[in-house]
Amino acid sequence: MVFTPTRGNGPLRFGPDVSQLNGVGAGTVPASDYLDPARYELERSKVLAPSWQIICRSSELANPGDFITWEGQGELIVVSRRKDGGLSGFHNVCQHRGARIVNEASGCARRFNCRWHNWAYDAEGTVIGIPDREDFDPADIEGIAAPAIELDEWGGWVWAVLAGPGIAPPLLEWLGSDIVTDLGAYRMEDMVLVEKITWDVPVNWKVIIDAFNENYHAPALHAINTKPQDAKDGRFSTYFWFDPHAMMVVPYKGVLGELTETLDHQALVICHYTLFPTSVFNCNPRHIQLFRSVPTSVGTSRFECWELMYPDGDEAYTEAAMEHWGRLKKVVQEDVDEWIDLDATKHSSAYTKNVLNEREGKIVAFHEAVQQRLDA
Ligand code: FES
Ligand SMILES: [Fe+2]
Repeated sequence: MVFTPTRGNGPLRFGPDVSQLNGVGAGTVPASDYLDPARYELERSKVLAPSWQIICRSSELANPGDFITWEGQGELIVVSRRKDGGLSGFHNVCQHRGARIVNEASGCARRFNCRWHNWAYDAEGTVIGIPDREDFDPADIEGIAAPAIELDEWGGWVWAVLAGPGIAPPLLEWLGSDIVTDLGAYRMEDMVLVEKITWDVPVNWKVIIDAFNENYHAPALHAINTKPQDAKDGRFSTYFWFDPHAMMVVPYKGVLGELTETLDHQALVICHYTLFPTSVFNCNPRHIQLFRSVPTSVGTSRFECWELMYPDGDEAYTEAAMEHWGRLKKVVQEDVDEWIDLDATKHSSAYTKNVLNEREGKIVAFHEAVQQRLDA
């Protein structure tokens, strides 16, 4: 039998005892938040580098020596599986003259050699071989290593703090009990990756997070691919701010009556989890999407859409999940097309701010959380 998530003893997220807006409200966001290059540099160092962010699936690093390289927010890293089952990672930047140490996207290796002058690195990023070592000033190469990153795993995902070890709280503490309990109910660690689609889009990384932080746009932008009744029931969504993460329960799929009876949000409807700063999980009872925003410059991003399904499903499960995923891909493409269109207006003198209603309040709270970190 395929696994079906359920609320169990988790907190109520819907029903007569739960208000619709929990810690969110209307507000505005200035256009400069998305456009200012100096602000982007500050976001890189004060928001992105010191935060836990998703890199890949744990299953991509199944065996000792397996490695992947990753690039985003102006940083390059290597992550590899150690013999003891843990993960090691370092910045993929040669400490000799700054070349990429590892050029492959993935592979299996115990050591890495920079092709320019053949410096050798171990899986921790420590330099273990320098041709003609005696020609260097010993003081310059004493203990030299590519800077380490911090790594952990949860939900079948590899997470990293690019600023290095000891900067962020431990991962579970960072996620907080609301997210660990609620999102944890889906057992993503047992799911399999079915597809990953990537787009390069001409928008700031926060435009992507904003787009998935509200469902106000669904009845308009997704009119063709969203059933009218679903869009109507979407008005009963509940919103939660967990600072800095967030959640919404969206009663699409025509199950409002059943949800009102059982209050089992995980088993019945779409639950959305925004994990500060760059990830959004769109959890349907039978399959899950990760929407990951990877900043590549102030005005460009890589948008990754990951599709997970439960293993051991029968034909009916697989067919239904694949059919829904097929429709969702069209919905996501509509979002992407909208971001591409934003490129035309972003430098217009008429674009000064975003005006957000209370059901877009998670966006307001998210931008406040970013601002708090910039001001700290
Ligand atoms: S830049 Fe890597 S060995 Fe010279
Ligand atoms: Fe959308």
